[in-house]
Amino acid sequence: MPTQGAEAFYEFLRTQRAVRRLRPDPIPDEVLARILDATRHAPSGGNRQGWRMVLVTEPTKKARLGELYTPSWEAYRAQYGNIDGLSHEDAARMVRVLDSGSYMAAHMHEYPLVAVVCFNPKHLAVTDAGQDRVSVVGGGSIYPAVQNFMLACRVEGLGCVLTTLLCEHEQEVKALLSIPEDWYTAAAIPVGYPVGKGYGPVSRLPVDKLFFENVWENPV
Ligand SMILES: Cc1cc2nc3c(=O)[nH]c(=O)nc-3n(C[C@H](O)[C@H](O)[C@H](O)COP(=O)(O)O)c2cc1C
Repeated sequence: MPTQGAEAFYEFLRTQRAVRRLRPDPIPDEVLARILDATRHAPSGGNRQGWRMVLVTEPTKKARLGELYTPSWEAYRAQYGNIDGLSHEDAARMVRVLDSGSYMAAHMHEYPLVAVVCFNPKHLAVTDAGQDRVSVVGGGSIYPAVQNFMLACRVEGLGCVLTTLLCEHEQEVKALLSIPEDWYTAAAIPVGYPVGKGYGPVSRLPVDKLFFENVWENPV
């Protein structure tokens, strides 16, 4: 028997897509307070909570973030935005996503909030640091807070998108926001009320491609 509110919660998860076209309208203080409170309840390794967020609302700082973001976005678009060989439908979807990305780069300074997610490696439990591959476990102490934040935005009717391109400009972002030397950046989340309907269905792999029962070759 699902708990009360379960159906609404699942619907939020199913429609939590990247929303990049956002209005400049301000976010009421009480709305933001609920989002931040939801965010702080995220888990982290050993409950060390080695993440922080700088909530950037000052126009000149948002403009600078937009300036830093734009060339990285354009390079990303040039590298991954090729629609040759895609079906008509996939090409149309790709063009929509790319155009919304360009819109966001050009309008980031107008969005009411850009949340810059920071972390301190000393406060992360990195249990895979000794493996001969890229280490990912540290991120597990940061991104649950990001997901809480984004789901809370969704619940409040706000659009947002997880972005990481600004990490290419970490030193400039740190200087701009007075982030201490031993803290680093993991993401930036532009937030605002959607221009259009915002959220909607997402396209993801089916359950039997993602989950296995007991052994890898046994799809659920
Ligand atoms: C780790 C990570 C990094 C991402 N970085 C960016 C980014 O820098 N810019 C951007 O526009 N979207 C970024 N995204 C959003 C993804 O492009 C988006 O979630 C994905 O294409 C699925 O889109 P959908 O949720 O709308 O279906 C990022 C998402 C994740 C999870």
